[in-house]
Amino acid sequence: LRNIKDCWWKKFVHQRPEIYGIDGAIISNPKVWEASGHVANFADSMIDCCSCKARYRVDHLIEEQTGEKVEGASLDELEKAIAAKNIICPACGKKNFTAARKFNTLFRSELGSLEEGGTTVYLRGETAQNMFVDFRSVINSFSPKLPFGLAQIGKAFRNEVTLGNFIFRTFEFEQMEIEYFIHERDWEAVFEQWKTDMWEWLISLGINSDHLRWRRHSEQELSHYSKRTEDIEYDFPFGGFNELCGLAYRTNFDLANHSKFSGQDLSLSLDDGSKYLPHVVEPTFGVSRTLLMLLLDSYREDEVNGEIRSYLKLNPNLAPYQVAVFPLSSNKPKLVEKAQSVFKLLLGSFSVVWDGHGNVGKRYRRQDEIGTPFCVTVDYQTLEDSTVTVRDRDTMAQERVPVDALIPHFSSKLAL
Ligand code: GAP
Repeated sequence: LRNIKDCWWKKFVHQRPEIYGIDGAIISNPKVWEASGHVANFADSMIDCCSCKARYRVDHLIEEQTGEKVEGASLDELEKAIAAKNIICPACGKKNFTAARKFNTLFRSELGSLEEGGTTVYLRGETAQNMFVDFRSVINSFSPKLPFGLAQIGKAFRNEVTLGNFIFRTFEFEQMEIEYFIHERDWEAVFEQWKTDMWEWLISLGINSDHLRWRRHSEQELSHYSKRTEDIEYDFPFGGFNELCGLAYRTNFDLANHSKFSGQDLSLSLDDGSKYLPHVVEPTFGVSRTLLMLLLDSYREDEVNGEIRSYLKLNPNLAPYQVAVFPLSSNKPKLVEKAQSVFKLLLGSFSVVWDGHGNVGKRYRRQDEIGTPFCVTVDYQTLEDSTVTVRDRDTMAQERVPVDALIPHFSSKLAL
């Protein structure tokens, strides 16, 4: 998870001089979410089964049973679809539902130490709002010129009606978001450029492009702030293609509303002295959904000596560990001592793990399962000639490498 975030930050913040990283508040005044339109619009529709009391998100229920996208449809339209499409309760098989109703997914809490009478606050439903609320601070500090972006990685919270499919949908999750501020006239070109940048980043992680596709939101599906949204979908083993990340053209909806609600002027001064309220294109990624995709996409099985070997063919920069080090046998002090010195040698340059449990074969399998690209075994020959066995996760090929040459050896194979 951390490696995904570091990789994203490096690509979209460190290597982009016009993008500034921020870290905003999780808890905020309800006015922020009134201004953003989330209090009025950030709602899902739900329905209960009268027979077994199971609760569903209506659009998902219909989509799962018909394959048709109905997100954004009105309550009336959803109820009609439930009847017309013969939708049944997946839990009990009956067709006996309550009326559909709206449910705001913002997480509400109370601020204040009094038992009663606290002030309502919201946990952020998207990290994006910090970029608009803290916009003025960045402008005052850096005076950036258009186009420029604000970026953030952090937790977001949603009172989802239903959870599921492992970590695909959870109440709390992390987002990696950029609000990219532009002139209105440039929005289509900027949108297309971000489509390329987002796609290329996913491919650089090692994802098979056949498992990805773009899908444009219909008018009815668009969020209240968006004039155009396109999602990159991944072909998940449950239910097929589904949202991985998204790109939205939010116009200047958010800055205009925050200006209005706060009374602060959020416009920029342009070179010709005029004032301008920038428009925004927003690339957004879910961290845990990216992780889920990576686990699924890199899972491999092959057959070794009549047994199935499973391994994660992860990009070495995303693997939890890059190198595992172990002594051939853990009860031989000389081997353990030498292996410890190799472990310490590599520790400063790579992300390294020590494994002294079980036999070498089992250690290889364990490291394969968590995607460690290289294993280093210290054996009796090491004590004689100071070479070690380096074993490759994907090919299982082994080679002898002098201990002194290990750092350049791995540096050449791992893009650090
Ligand atoms: N600021 C725009 C925004 O929040 P979104 O499509 O609602 O857009 C962005 O969310 C991304 O956050 C999604 O593409 C998805 O990867 C992730 N995401 C949304 N809801 C989630 C949930 N309940 N659990 C895990 N990830 C979620």
